Amino acid sequence: MIDKVEIAGIGSSVPEKVVTNFDLEKVVDTSDVWIKKRTGISSRHVVTSERSIDLAAAAALKAIDHAGIDGSDIGLIIGCTITSEQITPGMSSFVAKQVGVDCAMMDISAGCTGFVTGLITASSMMDTLNIDYAVVIAGEALTKIANWSDRSTCVLFGDGAGAVVLKKGDEQKMHYPVLTGTRDYDNVLICKKEDRKTPFGGVDNPPLEYIKMDGREVFTYAVGAVEDVLRRMQKSCGDKPYTKVIAHQANEKILDYVVRSIGMDKDQFFINISEYGNTSSATIPIAMCDALEQGWLQKGDRVALVGFGSGLSCGGIVIDWTL
Ligand code: COA
Repeated sequence: MIDKVEIAGIGSSVPEKVVTNFDLEKVVDTSDVWIKKRTGISSRHVVTSERSIDLAAAAALKAIDHAGIDGSDIGLIIGCTITSEQITPGMSSFVAKQVGVDCAMMDISAGCTGFVTGLITASSMMDTLNIDYAVVIAGEALTKIANWSDRSTCVLFGDGAGAVVLKKGDEQKMHYPVLTGTRDYDNVLICKKEDRKTPFGGVDNPPLEYIKMDGREVFTYAVGAVEDVLRRMQKSCGDKPYTKVIAHQANEKILDYVVRSIGMDKDQFFINISEYGNTSSATIPIAMCDALEQGWLQKGDRVALVGFGSGLSCGGIVIDWTL
């Protein structure tokens, strides 16, 4: 059961370096026309010296500043990532150090559904743990696990981070969480960890492992799963429907299908993939930040968030926007 929790602050951080489709034409056999037409992506931010955990900490600090709270108010930090540079301690621990707070911390690995999973987890735990403020961060450096000789995947990804501060409030502002999934029988979206030689087994000189994806299969899954989750939340909303959607930004064409099947207008979906590409778990909080900055998201709006990705996983939550 989600407690009376609201979003009190939000922040994002992306690397300085911008790589355009034209830049990618020099890396793989591709074209600006192909990438734009098939995905809606024009450019993406990519890490050079930054780490995903640095981006995450920067986003968290902005969100905390936006919420106007002190680090010591925070009782829980959840880091959502598949690309943390640290196996342990996790991204959340690194962020706690940067913020200067001693609190509960944990990481969530749920691919591009990570941020929605993190939101649902944090807001469900706040009452149980008697916590007034929690921070949920999604931070990724997908370009570090992309295969830069595979044109069908490397053009899709970008790097970045987004964070929110959750505050225990007087009214229910987060509703109807859905988390769902389908077993990835055929490994249509996978990135293995490299094997290592030990005294007892493993392999010498293991090959580098990168993201492998069957784009068509993932596309088909995404369209169906996002529509299903949106419909479930629509039903739960009853006579107070959500009027806006912020979905994971993986491919604008996926969202075009969903817009049609769900019977909403495209301008009810916030879309900023053109500038960032797919930053996995970070796309939704980065989009929330941009939507707020651009005035697309306004106090009183009822907005549905939907994430989808590896697993294969999908999830959503409805938020009454309070900022
Ligand atoms: N530039 C130019 N040509 C490319 C290319 C690129 N970057 N990538 C693939 N192609 C080529 C293919 O080699 C193929 O050529 P062929 O017909 O000569 O064999 C052709 O384009 C069509 O390839 P296909 O893979 O069928 O394209 P598609 O229309 O399915 O688009 C994706 C590919 C990856 C853009 C699309 O499937 C997709 O976005 N899927 C979802 C991926 C996703 O969102 N993943 C993350 C989920 S969290």
